[in-house]
Amino acid sequence: MTLQTAERPGLKDVAVTSTLIGDVNGAEGSFHYRGIDAIALATSRSFEDVWFLFVEGRLPQPDESATFAARTAALRMPPPEIHEVLPGIARSGCTVPAGLRAALSMLPAQPMWDAPTASRKADSLRVSAMTPTILAALHRLRLGLDPISPRADLSMSANWLYMITGQEPSKSVSLAAEQGFIMAIEHGFNASTFTARIAASAGADIVSAVVAAIGTFSGPLHGGAPGRALEVLDLIGTADNIEPWVRDCIARGERVMGFGHAVYQTTDPRARMLKAIALELHEQRPSEFIDFAITVEQRVTELLAELKPGRGLHANAEFYAGVVMEQCGVPREMFTPSSMCGRVIGWCANAVEQSEDRKIIRPIARYVGPMPGKPAS
Ligand SMILES: CC(C)(COP(=O)(O)OP(=O)(O)OC[C@H]1O[C@@H](n2cnc3c(N)ncnc32)[C@H](O)[C@@H]1OP(=O)(O)O)[C@@H](O)C(=O)NCCC(=O)NCCS
Repeated sequence: MTLQTAERPGLKDVAVTSTLIGDVNGAEGSFHYRGIDAIALATSRSFEDVWFLFVEGRLPQPDESATFAARTAALRMPPPEIHEVLPGIARSGCTVPAGLRAALSMLPAQPMWDAPTASRKADSLRVSAMTPTILAALHRLRLGLDPISPRADLSMSANWLYMITGQEPSKSVSLAAEQGFIMAIEHGFNASTFTARIAASAGADIVSAVVAAIGTFSGPLHGGAPGRALEVLDLIGTADNIEPWVRDCIARGERVMGFGHAVYQTTDPRARMLKAIALELHEQRPSEFIDFAITVEQRVTELLAELKPGRGLHANAEFYAGVVMEQCGVPREMFTPSSMCGRVIGWCANAVEQSEDRKIIRPIARYVGPMPGKPAS
């Protein structure tokens, strides 16, 4: 069969499916969830309200808001069979995201091909609600500490910080984390969302879709960047070293982690908002670290414009996500897991939506090797 197809590296600008979940406007520098500006949601709504928007397609009424928050808080504890295997997973030495993949895989769920909509939604709530608990428990077990049980009286973000540190966070820190979580829920047709939708298109269960997405998300070109962006700050060390370090990095053909975005050619709105959150935290508790991060961001942007002209390279969400999380007391190994606590909701909504299409995603590859019986040219 001869196929006349144009190959687009990275599938750039190829529309694979239709969605009602949200979109990114790369030229304008904005993104929305179901037609509502995501930054406006992050500054005016609770995490649980935005979660409801993803599941139900609309924002909740006040009574629904409280009911949904209580319902999801009650689902935070994983079943005992999963809880029991967490110490063994932690001892294996795998990373926290890899441990989440292993643990969630044990959760029974009906293939979405067969499941009615109500049970797809119920499974997605369960997976999303227990994800932070599993991640926090794995982190503590890796440190030789006992896991901390979730508290249903705390918001999702306060409970997350509590389960990691054992301390209830201040209101401002909890709010900063909550806004970060809301902005992490979804961001257009990114690589992990696509992965979740491929699994769903095959009729797989929601857990399989989430587990597949976790693997993609952990890559350094995707959600695995915030820890690496902070490593850049460590490696640069002092303001004097910004210029020589960046010049050397680019001369070696490497990338400055925390900069550049596949869609935005202007400032990433999440980076703008996270920077504002960092500045607010700085006002409450002055930090040399935040001052330094801002200096690095400004100088690196200038240098990338000179060394990589026309590529539109600015700080992305991962750069300031790392800075904010550090200030919230989240340990570095928990940066990528923190983003997963928000993103799991986006993966689930996308998987459920894709499963309704009932058409498997099955593109092609252009075969460029030798043909049977003919030597390679
Ligand atoms: C996010 C990212 C994968 C988007 O990639 P993309 O839009 O597909 O861009 P490309 O990989 O095609 O790169 C385009 C050009 O910009 C350069 N570039 C992109 N990001 C760069 C960075 N962070 N530092 C230096 N150069 C960069 C590439 O080297 C390439 O240069 P070339 O034209 O000379 O070959 C990319 O910007 C990157 O690797 N950033 C660093 C990792 C990161 O922060 N990831 C978190 C994303 S939220």
